[in-house]
Amino acid sequence: MYIHKLKIGDLELKNNILLAPMAGITDSPFRKICEKYSSPGLVYTEMLSSKALFYNDDKTKKLMNIEGEKRPIAFQIFGSDPEVMGEATKIVSEYADIVDINMGCPAPKVVKNGDGSRLLQNPKLVESIVKEVVKSTNKPVTVKMRKGWNNEQINAIEIAKIIEDAGASAITIHGRTREEYYSRTC
Ligand SMILES: Cc1cc2nc3c(=O)[nH]c(=O)nc-3n(C[C@H](O)[C@H](O)[C@H](O)COP(=O)(O)O)c2cc1C
Repeated sequence: MYIHKLKIGDLELKNNILLAPMAGITDSPFRKICEKYSSPGLVYTEMLSSKALFYNDDKTKKLMNIEGEKRPIAFQIFGSDPEVMGEATKIVSEYADIVDINMGCPAPKVVKNGDGSRLLQNPKLVESIVKEVVKSTNKPVTVKMRKGWNNEQINAIEIAKIIEDAGASAITIHGRTREEYYSRTC
């Protein structure tokens, strides 16, 4: 693999090795281990609920702990209400070097609320959310999405253009559809 520096917005990463966000895995101790042994250019928090941040939920506040960690750290938030996403962005921006929006989570309990990968089926809402998040922070905003909802609805390019026009600085695409979850076909 060719290792090189990477610039996201005005933030320069020392390399292009990124620790992917993983719910239930990329907590602070895990990030510290990765920071120590692989020296990634960027690490991500687990996904944080914008609603939980908005309502000051204690468990979610604990997930924001980055004490003793190396920077930069991207904070990933999820949700589908642009205003709540904007407020959550203001909260995480105090600690985050990048604010990342989750548009890829396939979990039924997430998509049933219109969050995560469900957003891929709602381009207008994607635009509103990204614009609101960009407006609410001076940190670079990024989006992590899937290639589409299912094989009949592959729309990553359409959504990526909307995200770019709305002011995001980078996009990560998980090369599976929502219906593929985490299966081997990628
Ligand atoms: C246990 C687990 C939890 C994950 N949680 C998240 C998450 O919270 N946010 C997100 O954007 N992606 C999440 N992902 C997706 C990964 O960030 C990554 O995009 C995906 O695993 C693709 O890489 P792979 O083909 O090497 O598995 C998760 C993946 C796994 C396996």
